[in-house]
Amino acid sequence: MARVLVTGGAGFIGSNFVRYVVENTDDEVTVLDKLTYAGDPRTLGGLPENRVRLVQGDIADAGLVDGLVSGHDLVVHFAAESHNDNSLRDPSPFVRTNLVGTFELLEAVRRHEKRYHHISTDEVYGDLELDDPARFTETTPYNPSSPYSSTKAGSDLLVRAWVRSFGVQATLSNCSNNYGPYQHVEKFIPRQITNVIDGGRPKLYGAGENVRDWIHVDDHNSAVLRIIEAGRAGETYLIGADGEQNNKDVVELILELMGQSRDAYDHVTDRAGHDLRYAIDATRLRTELGWAPRFSNFRAGLADTIAWYQANESWWRPQKARTEARYAAAGQ
Ligand code: NAD
Ligand code: DAU
Repeated sequence: MARVLVTGGAGFIGSNFVRYVVENTDDEVTVLDKLTYAGDPRTLGGLPENRVRLVQGDIADAGLVDGLVSGHDLVVHFAAESHNDNSLRDPSPFVRTNLVGTFELLEAVRRHEKRYHHISTDEVYGDLELDDPARFTETTPYNPSSPYSSTKAGSDLLVRAWVRSFGVQATLSNCSNNYGPYQHVEKFIPRQITNVIDGGRPKLYGAGENVRDWIHVDDHNSAVLRIIEAGRAGETYLIGADGEQNNKDVVELILELMGQSRDAYDHVTDRAGHDLRYAIDATRLRTELGWAPRFSNFRAGLADTIAWYQANESWWRPQKARTEARYAAAGQ
């Protein structure tokens, strides 16, 4: 049994990770989460109290982080400001949380000689042309576009430097776009589902040709657990499940699955600097660590996700009006 400190464990992927760990290991978990607009303690509801505890706090708080890290065997670092559109409106919390917060965690794991896993994104590699046969690999040069992705890229580089200079026992993973339960309504798929539930219309940025490489959140988390078990310290693993789809196709599928006409959506103002396409080549993870995704049918995974938002309105409703007001102010 290990004692695991999960930062950002009240957010989308982190909370699904905590559930996954409880179901698949006998580890004990402490969640460190600031409970920003994106964190919700209800997301951890129903988990056994003798195995999961929540500490509300900031990863940039050096004293708090030091005390928590010293009492755990492993740190899995999910906490971040995670939304590109927010980073275009106000980058400052992105710098503090994604860069300074990661720095404080690294200093603590260095002092206490703890194992560390760093959760990152494929956005650090920038974007690809629609017709480029290449996909991102572990050796693709970093070329981030937004304040969000540049601070994630910077946090990855801090981890690599702490590995090389101080011998910190860290692994890194860079994953593509996740979908599934408990994702905030500001994100693409939950925003469109909840718009339709509310009798509104999905909102597509620009022409909708941008491509994202979708992976179910449980597949992301099974890969993270596999990397923690078997990955080599200092190494990076890309996580993806061959799920490329353009945004227009995803919106049309949501409308179809929800019994609406496939053209019942609006084109709205495009995102500034909008990355065109992300695509992951996960060969290394599959061949070296023997990982494979379980959710290969996007249509079925999306239908389950729609059903989850229909059944859990009380979870997302408190965030919906405020989120839509922010988008409306930006013409989106
Ligand atoms: P999220 O926004 O849903 O959750 C982030 C969580 O971090 C929230 O609970 C929030 O309260 C917490 N948090 C924010 N600032 C904090 C701070 N200073 N101290 C402590 N806690 C803080 O994000 P997510 O989508 O679950 O993403 C989790 C991680 O996965 C991030 O590192 C993100 O970059 C990465 N990632 C996300 C995706 C995706 O598709 N969502 C894909 C690849 C990688
Ligand atoms: O690739 C991994 C990244 O995926 C993560 O690092 C980020 O944390 C996560 O937010 C996500 O970033 P994106 O910017 O790709 O996700 P988002 O859900 O914001 O948007 C997905 C696509 O949909 C993108 O091309 C923008 C578009 N979009 C988004 C919204 C909110 C729309 O067309 N309409 C919308 O209303």
